[in-house]
Amino acid sequence: MATMAMKGKVCVTGAGGFIGSWVVKLLLSRDYIVHGTVREPSDAKYDHLRKLEKVTKNLELFKADLLNYESLRSAIAGCDGVFHVACPVPSTTSSNPETEVIEPAVKGTHNVLEACVESKIKRVVVVSSAAAVFFNPSWPQGRVMDENCWSDMEHCRATKNWYFLAKTKAESEALEFGRRCGLDVVTMCPTLVIGPVLQATVNASSLVLLKILKEGCESMENRLRMLVDVRDVAEALVLLYEKGEAEGRYICTAHTIETRELVDALKRKYPDYSYPKKLLEGKAESVSLSSEKLQRLGWKYRALEDTLVDAVQSFKDAGMLE
Ligand SMILES: NC(=O)c1ccc[n+]([C@@H]2O[C@H](COP(=O)([O-])OP(=O)(O)OC[C@H]3O[C@@H](n4cnc5c(N)ncnc54)[C@H](OP(=O)(O)O)[C@@H]3O)[C@@H](O)[C@H]2O)c1
Repeated sequence: MATMAMKGKVCVTGAGGFIGSWVVKLLLSRDYIVHGTVREPSDAKYDHLRKLEKVTKNLELFKADLLNYESLRSAIAGCDGVFHVACPVPSTTSSNPETEVIEPAVKGTHNVLEACVESKIKRVVVVSSAAAVFFNPSWPQGRVMDENCWSDMEHCRATKNWYFLAKTKAESEALEFGRRCGLDVVTMCPTLVIGPVLQATVNASSLVLLKILKEGCESMENRLRMLVDVRDVAEALVLLYEKGEAEGRYICTAHTIETRELVDALKRKYPDYSYPKKLLEGKAESVSLSSEKLQRLGWKYRALEDTLVDAVQSFKDAGMLE
């Protein structure tokens, strides 16, 4: 009997999160066997994973914490590749940034990479963030930021942007680790990721849209937002894994839009939600990021309208708009 050609075995850390779930879904649809790490496999918050196509045969969940090397090692053992997605993404300022954000991001990434070396992983794709790119006051005003631009860690520290600091340190150390240990490490830096949720719990970046749709705030700052669809992020990550020529870091962004335009686009489609009453002009921002390097590899992104419509539908289905 003819068998389906399998694409090999990969591990996805943070498999139950917003981005991780879409990465798992895409990999399963492409006949990969997936080891997904979650912190508490029996928790009902991962039920959405158990409903994915081909899950029974091709997905195994592993209990793993980023600060527990042995747990990561067990999940990664026997795999060909790793997608390191897990990292705390706080939606508010952290009271203990060292333990809540920096350590899991930096030490956690180091642990994943060590386990990759031990298991002779062929390539690890690390999810970093635009937070590791754009927070750089020395970058020439008006010049488009590409992969050569790194957030300034001293500036992150001085301004207490702990998540930015954590992502910058984790990504730069990951690339350095790869060079030092001969591990093929590719990193990706997405801007704000929105789109349909698979999971039942609200993640920090979806909260940005939910806040616009349902809080009826008295006022909200009119900021420039750089957005990308979660499904296009998952496609980009798998592209970085599959394309032999991928190397170094990749910015992943699709649309740049002011909050005001975003609110207007949503209002046109869904006039009845509780939108912010007023948009206040903040200081003019001129940051601009380019995904040209990723696009040269063949990455494409969908129209923002599709992202918004599918996001709102998923929020309704998950009862997040009530
Ligand atoms: N969403 C965005 O706008 C955005 C933009 C740029 C980059 N990113 C990056 O994308 C990745 C995924 O973010 P997301 O938006 O999908 O957030 P999310 O839904 O909050 O997912 C984060 C995942 O990390 C896991 N995690 C956190 N701390 C952990 C620890 N100590 N040990 C093991 N797992 C841990 C969580 O596991 P549990 O399920 O066990 O809680 C969860 O699955 C992160 O690396 C984030 O920095 C996100």
